[in-house]
Amino acid sequence: MTSPLLELKSVGVHFGALKAVDQATLHLAAGERVAILGPNGAGKTTLFNAITGMTPASCGQVILDQKDITRSSPEVRAQKGIARTFQITNLFFGLSVEENLLLATRGLGRTKFSMWRTDRALGIERDIVESALDKCHLQAKRHLLVKEISYGEQRQLELAMSLTSSPRILLLDEPAAGLSPAERVIMAEVIRGLPQSLSLILIEHDIDLALGLVDRVICMYQGTVLVEGKPDEIRNNPLVQEIYLGKPRHA
Ligand SMILES: Nc1ncnc2c1ncn2[C@@H]1O[C@H](COP(=O)(O)OP(=O)(O)OP(=O)(O)O)[C@@H](O)[C@H]1O
Ligand SMILES: [Mg+2]
Repeated sequence: MTSPLLELKSVGVHFGALKAVDQATLHLAAGERVAILGPNGAGKTTLFNAITGMTPASCGQVILDQKDITRSSPEVRAQKGIARTFQITNLFFGLSVEENLLLATRGLGRTKFSMWRTDRALGIERDIVESALDKCHLQAKRHLLVKEISYGEQRQLELAMSLTSSPRILLLDEPAAGLSPAERVIMAEVIRGLPQSLSLILIEHDIDLALGLVDRVICMYQGTVLVEGKPDEIRNNPLVQEIYLGKPRHA
């Protein structure tokens, strides 16, 4: 078996006596798509924070490309290819969709503080912006201000902005939260259409949406990884049905 791209070994994130993440062990292969399910407070977002370095693990190891990154800063991890979706609060509402993407491209690039760009650098930036617009179905909205597009499109833009760093692993924390049924369909299409080479971890409360997008599912409960399996195994797992779907086992 080839080594996983990302590996968590007995990772814990503790807030005082609370073990928000407790002995979590999981792996992600290159190009794999995994969903994390779990009730509110299960530790899903905290697990993402341990991967990005926003809240470093209290114990255990985070390994990327067989190298220990448990103590690396969020910036170093981002440079190594780990990205998460930006929050809507990170968008500039008075700028256009395209301008937001350009800023995201520059903010993460090596040209961050330089005023002048070579033609080549400008060309690369333009290609990155075009590719993100295409992937997130935003070409038709590129010249509109963020405040003029719908909430669903703003969430597509968040995703587009996270793609500008050309990540290898993308962490999506509830990308469809708050979307209308029609907007959910578009978001699912956008996620499904992302490059196969991009590894994804998706946190999503809409189980049908999540199970339709991934190769494997990890269920968390009270900080621990409880069950892991293929989407069909998870759908039919009595324990998962009881905890996540609210169905009694005998139903
Ligand atoms: N910075 C923090 N300080 C103290 N407790 C925290 C902190 N962040 C999270 N927690 C607690 O850790 C637990 C896990 O929270 P987390 O946000 O990871 O859950 P979640 O699975 O993402 O839930 P949701 O589905 O509601 O987003 C919760 O009990 C939460 O209150
Ligand atoms: Mg959360």
